[in-house]
Amino acid sequence: MKLLHIDSSALGANSVTRELSAAIAGRWRDAFPDIQVEYRDLDALPLPHLTGASLAQADADEAAAAAAALEQFLAADVIVIGAPMYNFSIPSTLKAWIDRIAIAGKSFKYTESGAVGLAGGKKVIVASGRGGIHSDAPTDFQEPYLRQVFGFLGIDDVEFVRAEGVAYSPQHRSEALAAAHRSIKAPTQLRKAA
Ligand SMILES: Cc1cc2nc3c(=O)[nH]c(=O)nc-3n(C[C@H](O)[C@H](O)[C@H](O)COP(=O)(O)O)c2cc1C
Repeated sequence: MKLLHIDSSALGANSVTRELSAAIAGRWRDAFPDIQVEYRDLDALPLPHLTGASLAQADADEAAAAAAALEQFLAADVIVIGAPMYNFSIPSTLKAWIDRIAIAGKSFKYTESGAVGLAGGKKVIVASGRGGIHSDAPTDFQEPYLRQVFGFLGIDDVEFVRAEGVAYSPQHRSEALAAAHRSIKAPTQLRKAA
């Protein structure tokens, strides 16, 4: 089984989502000592924004990095993503990664009856952090967006571990973080994984 652990927070050691994503990945390591874990820090090593030059594969290094990101995503059974809410959505570094893994013919395809996801069988766990409270509100373009993207790629098994209202006060933050830690589900063997 392979686990891909991704972080995208720009807040380093003060990050809520980095703390939660590490805890989630740790639970999977503990449950499955043989699990192969790869880590990608999109803040420290961001992928370039997708441009016309990217599509034309004008830069061989950029094209190779994009191909590696796609292969790494396709190879993973479990994907743990630290995804803070930035300006009601996700960090642009995480969007830049999504632009490299949502590739027609690789992770989805169009047919005469619509789009078909090609990346099914994976589990995605999103460590979500937000300063305000947005659950079930029209202001949430972060979690519904991520559910839509992965659903489009064929991944219906998307869980959210959420700490929100963390900017309200230090007490809100510590209580939201503690509740998020408690909400982490026990890892289970995936049907697809050997
Ligand atoms: C650039 C930036 C934009 C943010 N935008 C929002 C926002 O639109 N709504 C919100 O509730 N919180 C917002 N926040 C607060 C973060 O969602 C909150 O600090 C969360 O803990 C971020 O996760 P992290 O600690 O892992 O970075 C923003 C924070 C930053 C740094």
